[in-house]
Amino acid sequence: MTQRVAVVTGGNKGIGFAIVKQLCIQFDGIVYLTARDITRGEDAIKKLGEQGLNPNFHQLDITDDDSISTFHDYLKEMYDGLDILVNNAGIAFKQSATEPISVQAEETLRVNYFALRKVCNKLFPLLKPHARVVHVSSSSGRLSYIPNESLRKKFSNPSLTEEELDNILHEFVNAVKEDKHLEEGWPHSAYVVSKIGVSALAGIHQRMFNSDTREDLVVNSVHPGYVNTDMTSRKGVLTPDQGAEAPIYSALLPENTDIKGKYIWYDKALVIWAKS
Ligand SMILES: NC(=O)c1ccc[n+]([C@@H]2O[C@H](COP(=O)([O-])OP(=O)(O)OC[C@H]3O[C@@H](n4cnc5c(N)ncnc54)[C@H](OP(=O)(O)O)[C@@H]3O)[C@@H](O)[C@H]2O)c1
Repeated sequence: MTQRVAVVTGGNKGIGFAIVKQLCIQFDGIVYLTARDITRGEDAIKKLGEQGLNPNFHQLDITDDDSISTFHDYLKEMYDGLDILVNNAGIAFKQSATEPISVQAEETLRVNYFALRKVCNKLFPLLKPHARVVHVSSSSGRLSYIPNESLRKKFSNPSLTEEELDNILHEFVNAVKEDKHLEEGWPHSAYVVSKIGVSALAGIHQRMFNSDTREDLVVNSVHPGYVNTDMTSRKGVLTPDQGAEAPIYSALLPENTDIKGKYIWYDKALVIWAKS
């Protein structure tokens, strides 16, 4: 019997750290805490060790093609597969950020959407039958945050492809650079658009999985709740452990679950992300 393997991106702190912790407790297999910074990753491993939990560590910067490739090759060589992938890593500029919104838009989309997509492209071939993938989205990842109806229609097109979704998101970044995004009916938040991209991507990925020869591949996007982490400047009302509950629920969905290609709220309710 080969060993089962779970991977969490951005596992060194916040919700990702709590997801790693819970996987160590609840998942019957090896858990990889990954982080872009080796020192921060190893410090997190040490902290979990003090609690009697022993995940493995591997460096992974989701924006770095070489880092993703190295990790892919390592997983392939060591396990020839992957059972759980939690795409948790993400960024959000603070309200007080001084970078121009064009810079914020490019960087936020680069990390939260395009890098997540790259990780999936590279690691999906490793997924084993019954694998579970979790895209950590947000309450911001709901289509109703986009004012323009024809943009909303593009996002919710049931036959939307990854490439078409990429193009829509590039259009947003370009519109911001030209200072036309409000006129074109986009929201004034790169984070919102990046997470709507993540929610839409989960639907596309599930459609791909449905026609995959590997049995029972499942992906869902999740809103973890408003969580007390660095991202929220510690203002969130849930603890990171509470924020990890819905991602863990999604990561551990039983074999042949019907819950796939969905958007899962922090209380585990299924919510329609594309409702206008
Ligand atoms: N907190 C909330 O209320 C809330 C609500 C809805 C959704 N979310 C989502 O939940 C996820 C986790 O958020 P959080 O609140 O735990 O945030 P956080 O405390 O800021 O942690 C973010 C994690 O992502 C990592 N990361 C950022 N860029 C990365 C990259 N290029 N490669 C690899 N890792 C990278 C960070 O690593 P470093 O330490 O190296 O920066 C850190 O480990 C995010 O996707 C966020 O959008 C959070």
